[in-house]
Amino acid sequence: MDKRAIGVFDSGLGGLTALRELRRLLPGEELVYFGDTGRVPYGGRGKDTILRYARQDVAFLRTFDLKAVVIACGTVSANALTELRAENDLPIFGVVEPAARAAVAATRKGKVGLIATAASVRSGAYEKAIAALDPGVEVRSDACPLFVPLVENGRHRPGDPVVELVAREYLAPMQEAGVDTLVLGCTHYPLLREVIGGIMGPGVTLIDTGAVCAAETARFLVGKGLLAEGQAGSRRYFVSDSASDFAALAAPFLGGEVDGPVERVDIEKY
Ligand code: DGL
Repeated sequence: MDKRAIGVFDSGLGGLTALRELRRLLPGEELVYFGDTGRVPYGGRGKDTILRYARQDVAFLRTFDLKAVVIACGTVSANALTELRAENDLPIFGVVEPAARAAVAATRKGKVGLIATAASVRSGAYEKAIAALDPGVEVRSDACPLFVPLVENGRHRPGDPVVELVAREYLAPMQEAGVDTLVLGCTHYPLLREVIGGIMGPGVTLIDTGAVCAAETARFLVGKGLLAEGQAGSRRYFVSDSASDFAALAAPFLGGEVDGPVERVDIEKY
């Protein structure tokens, strides 16, 4: 039994899709979330900047007594996981490895697609992780830079003409490549699941990176006997921009109300 908290961070709000899943799988855990809403997006930035930001995000979270850190951000997982693991003496989970395992398990034809931010695609991290599991699996990767701002502006619902148009254009090469499994390599994309699923069709399995990462974290903590048993889990939310905007913006990602206090952090201090 271990009552310490689990730290979860993202460049902004997308990581709340992973937190939502952690909350569902591990209702007794104390979760501390940091969203770098003042500096989002990370996905168009270079590796050095992503690494600097990620180190600050982890340094802030480590002001709490943690048993694990979940990087609920595709861009940070793809660009900074190795460094963060080497620099920190606690388990750190990213989204790339669990997503790669889920994709290799799901593909029937050995054709996997990845959609993610430009920095995630450029890193080649998903291709490397998939090749390490099964070199025979082909991977087609495409950056979809308009998806994050569309989701953040509430334009993610099926039938919305703007998101449908953008998604059709982004996904056409995936359809032509004949992928049967598509990794939603960014934690914002689960909100586009219905739009993307509608275009790709029922024959294509969609992998939600936040959900598979949350499941892996849960398996690890259960396996090591590190759950905080016998208590109701609490949640605390921290952001680097306005805390008052957070509740309204976070609700679609959490699938409901924000269930804990929200505070602003000066992340440049860390
Ligand atoms: N959270 C980021 C990710 O999962 C997307 C937003 C950004 O570009 O920072 O890759």
